[in-house]
Amino acid sequence: MTATVNVDGLISGERDAHISVFDHGFLYGEGVYEVLRTYGRTPFLFEAHMARLRRSAERIALPVPWTDAEILARIDATIDAAAVSLNEGPGDAYVRLLLTRGVGDLLYDPAACPTPTTVIIVKPMAEPPEKVYDEGVMISLVPVLRNHPQSVDPAIKANNLLNNALAMQQAIAKHGFEALMRNHRGELCECAQSNFFVVSQGVLRTPPLDAGLLAGITRAFVLELAAALGYRAKEETIVEGDLATADEMFLTSSTKEIVPVVRVDDLTIGDGRPGPVTRAVLAEFRRRAHAGRTPAPVNV
Ligand SMILES: Cc1ncc(COP(=O)(O)O)c(C=O)c1O
Repeated sequence: MTATVNVDGLISGERDAHISVFDHGFLYGEGVYEVLRTYGRTPFLFEAHMARLRRSAERIALPVPWTDAEILARIDATIDAAAVSLNEGPGDAYVRLLLTRGVGDLLYDPAACPTPTTVIIVKPMAEPPEKVYDEGVMISLVPVLRNHPQSVDPAIKANNLLNNALAMQQAIAKHGFEALMRNHRGELCECAQSNFFVVSQGVLRTPPLDAGLLAGITRAFVLELAAALGYRAKEETIVEGDLATADEMFLTSSTKEIVPVVRVDDLTIGDGRPGPVTRAVLAEFRRRAHAGRTPAPVNV
């Protein structure tokens, strides 16, 4: 891993980046984050990510001390510092922005931590191999349930990721690319690191936000571009039985774009190959993403 890290404005290589063990992000998982990627130099769907960061922060009563422009300037400075490692590849960057409660005494009272900590991690974008898109992946429906929305609401993109990590452990044990999760009502809601869609008779369906899931930026973008492509796309409850009748299924995430799913454990989806709707959505997604591409950073 070659990461460049910005901790409260101080940019360093990964080995020299430090935060205090008294940071409540570390002690209690109290913080929020965003993961986005760039195409060339440009962070993709930046405004949508910042809007979600602010919604997440508000839900845990964490003030965001920066404007979007200030955050973008910090991301740009970190990308500039990472130019050498980024230019070893296609130049695209993975960007993780974290905002934690900050450093304070061992108390849950937010007043114990007057200043939030801001961390930006930039590393070369490692895209899944093209085989993933050409052949599709197997995912696993796991026993661990997604957090109840009245507990740690999955709508909050929180640094406390134990629910996701446990689900991924179960999927990895089954050699699954992703962990498909049920909500407290037994409905399918999302995966540990992505949202999902099923396609039946040309209609795209994805679970509604009140199923208890992260409002994925890619999910929203796909709902918009599916309509532009002339498909019907609906937010609708999806249960396990719906997988048997689905013609296609795919995952959406900022770092993986649109990933075709051809198997859920032993159940083959459709004819077991990435379908035409998934391929069309992926092609249009990439066309739009690359249209905003700016040149890769120059070596300095
Ligand atoms: C639980 C979960 N759901 C969905 C997503 C996809 O969200 P986005 O499209 O905003 O990357 C992620 C991304 O990390 C996630 O962690």
